[in-house]
Amino acid sequence: MKGSCRIPATLLAGLVLSGPLAAQAPAPAETPVPAPTNAPSLAPATTPAGPGPTVSYAAARHWTDPQGKPLPFGSEAEMLDFLRTADVVSATRLGGGINNPRKLLLEKNGVQASAVFRDVNEEKNTPTFGGGRNELFFKDSYIFEPAAYELAMMLGLDNVPPATLRKYERTSGSVQIFIENAITERRELEEHLQPPDEQEWKKQVQMMNVFDALIYNVDRNRGNIIITPDWRLWMIDHSRTFRRNTDLQSQSPINQCERQLYAKLKALDEKEARKRLKDYLTTFELDALFTRRKLLLERIDKLIAEKGENQVLYDFVWYAPKTVGKSVEESAAQPR
Ligand SMILES: Nc1ncnc2c1ncn2[C@@H]1O[C@H](COP(=O)(O)OP(=O)(O)O)[C@@H](O)[C@H]1O
Ligand SMILES: [Mg+2]
Repeated sequence: MKGSCRIPATLLAGLVLSGPLAAQAPAPAETPVPAPTNAPSLAPATTPAGPGPTVSYAAARHWTDPQGKPLPFGSEAEMLDFLRTADVVSATRLGGGINNPRKLLLEKNGVQASAVFRDVNEEKNTPTFGGGRNELFFKDSYIFEPAAYELAMMLGLDNVPPATLRKYERTSGSVQIFIENAITERRELEEHLQPPDEQEWKKQVQMMNVFDALIYNVDRNRGNIIITPDWRLWMIDHSRTFRRNTDLQSQSPINQCERQLYAKLKALDEKEARKRLKDYLTTFELDALFTRRKLLLERIDKLIAEKGENQVLYDFVWYAPKTVGKSVEESAAQPR
């Protein structure tokens, strides 16, 4: 689904709202009263599940074949190389949106995996209105998916599935590993599934808020958030990001930040980042990105100065929680 969609706050009571909707979310109170429901409480409400059994790199990254068997790749580079060079065995359209990217079945050396091929590439340099396009310099492009993946990895966020550039049927596009067994947040709400640990879930959503503010994502709707059975939040469909806007979409939503993300944002080497993103972003888009990064850090530093670090920074350590009630897996297994 494209274009901004208004999610009734009531529907998402208890979940941190993302993007322009976050404006409704009040910042936590000055005095250390219990954090309002729409913000992750800084002290973990429940002890997150301890480190589970050690699993392969691919399993930890949710890279599996269509049957759910972890792929034999031990690094991002191996995964990206497969996405770029594997043969396309079949292709189907993925519903649920406007651009309807294609789901490819890729194969190489007997290894099979599904991937998403996006080739949308629309740009308008004059102000346009209607249909979620009311922007100056509207751009909807496949090229932003690998840019979002690369930037997320530089910031220690490993929940944008790996994506890279490739041609398919002589069309330029980007290809991204397909996360098997996942459901969209839209499905989660429709089926009233409850995260087993609300606070840990909110922490993930807040990290997405910070990332979306940085990349000026104008399209984080419920179809662009997917959830795996371990309640990991995955960010997909970044075709409407990296705007040339040199302001933050809206100040108020960023009222907390995960500590490691804050540290990585502060330490981000601009020269190195420009080098890693130059194949995807124009100079205007890169300049705007680093202006927003500065504004984000100023916002967080101001909050820390006003409220104290403990009211603003929180820790998120990923441990797969034990699922309760109807699982995402059961839901994902049900045909739509
Ligand atoms: N990498 C992925 N892994 C798993 N599911 C995906 C992935 N990318 C897209 N999808 C599924 O396909 C749907 C449409 O893809 P999306 O990129 O959002 O297309 P559109 O541009 O039409 O909104 C998503 O809502 C999600 O259900
Ligand atoms: Mg989408």
